[in-house]
Amino acid sequence: MIIYKTKNYTDMSRKAANIISAQVTMKPDCVLGLATGSSPLGTYEQLIDWYKKGDLDFAKVSSVNLDEYRGLSPEHEQSYRYFMNTNFFDHINIDKSRTFVPDGLASDVAKFCKDYDRLIEELGGVDLQLLGLGRNGHIGFNEPSYVFERDTHCVDLTPSTIHANKRFFNSEEDVPRQALTMGIKNIMMAKKIVVVVSGEDKAEALKEVVSGPITPMVPGSVLQLHPDVMIIADEAALSKM
Ligand code: F6R
Repeated sequence: MIIYKTKNYTDMSRKAANIISAQVTMKPDCVLGLATGSSPLGTYEQLIDWYKKGDLDFAKVSSVNLDEYRGLSPEHEQSYRYFMNTNFFDHINIDKSRTFVPDGLASDVAKFCKDYDRLIEELGGVDLQLLGLGRNGHIGFNEPSYVFERDTHCVDLTPSTIHANKRFFNSEEDVPRQALTMGIKNIMMAKKIVVVVSGEDKAEALKEVVSGPITPMVPGSVLQLHPDVMIIADEAALSKM
């Protein structure tokens, strides 16, 4: 596990974008595992900027997203599909038919989850997985639990996550209570993992992830077992270490 300390969110985003851009340059048909939320937003902005300057080409890239709220349609402004389109895909030359986000409206959830696992396999696995970190140590929407869920599954969001994400909705009541998420095995199978972490409110979780015991109660702690993880964190997020 490599920890790269940056001064602030902007530097963190530029560093992460640098690594993703190297990945896309070295393997133009790579598979990117992508995340939503505030943490990767600056990374996407930087990548868009470099794309517009002609430095990057996403034409052959495929992507799979970590998660999606259950019950939200792709057109819903708070759905993760909408987030990805408006904050990234609409601004680059990626072929949208090769961008995959779990279907929040899937009626047969068990079948959908199996199909999503198969899709990742058929794509040849994820070359680079970008992750944010929840304040409770979650990665994707793998919430603190007694077991590591391996595969894509439906999860009940914890009160802490619902509370943290209410900032994107009109009220806490509007935050969906469930989500579909890749499992820990899906994430750990990625060849390379880049985690972006910013802000003091993540400092405790980051400390646990990096130096605490490996436990499903802190899902991100499992990353200690991955052979190629880079954590890019700003000073505030590293303030407890
Ligand atoms: C989002 C995701 C989540 C977020 C995490 C941090 O696709 O998988 O694990 O990365 O909740 O969210 P932010 O970045 O908004 O603090």
